[in-house]
Amino acid sequence: MAGFVIAVDGPAASGKGTVSAGLARLYDLPMLDTGLLYRAVGVAAARAGGNLDDPADAGAAARALDLEALHDPALRTREAGEAASRVAVHPEVRAALLDLQRAFAARGPGAVIDGRDIGTVIAPDAPAKLFVTASPQVRAERRWRQLLGQGEAVEYEAVLADIRRRDERDSGRAAAPLVRAADAVLLDTSEMTIDEAADAARRIVEAARARWETSRGANPTTP
Ligand code: CDP
Repeated sequence: MAGFVIAVDGPAASGKGTVSAGLARLYDLPMLDTGLLYRAVGVAAARAGGNLDDPADAGAAARALDLEALHDPALRTREAGEAASRVAVHPEVRAALLDLQRAFAARGPGAVIDGRDIGTVIAPDAPAKLFVTASPQVRAERRWRQLLGQGEAVEYEAVLADIRRRDERDSGRAAAPLVRAADAVLLDTSEMTIDEAADAARRIVEAARARWETSRGANPTTP
């Protein structure tokens, strides 16, 4: 039987990465940041001189994805985020990354997986689903500070424009758009500190885990 899978979806800079890392530590589960896969494909396609809006170029980069590339710090840049969202619209790209993500979800111990389509496409049967969001202004401020911390000089207004454009592209695309799964619990972190968001996520997942344990006929346990 599949392990305990926690699906965490949400828009750019919503806090889902931090929330996911906290949950992975708490439940001692492996974590997969699927955004990194799309970032790696976008960066690889660009480096190969490909056209990110061309499904053939982007699809070829996705099929040739080298998992070693996921450690590249260049994937954390603003440019890589934009490249990721451009290649992510192509069904060819999503198909090439599907098996890897589903296999990760199906591994014995369970997993924490974060992205845009985890609760809807990758792991629709996940026993715990969160949709983490925050206002565009709050998300832009977080991303802006993060980029400055990485040494990337950029204006707040430009980051806000990035966020809005990415939201529109990610939610408006035909293939696996960013959408809250019907059974995902909404967590709006606009007014929360990191600790508060982590705590709220833990409470949501604890409740889901208790239901999951019961449905498997086991005694509820605390991690
Ligand atoms: O950290 P941030 O939220 O900015 O981005 P990310 O999670 O690294 O994802 C980068 C881009 O990859 C997103 O804007 C999506 O277009 C795409 N993506 C996706 O389509 N599906 C996923 N499961 C994860 C990311």
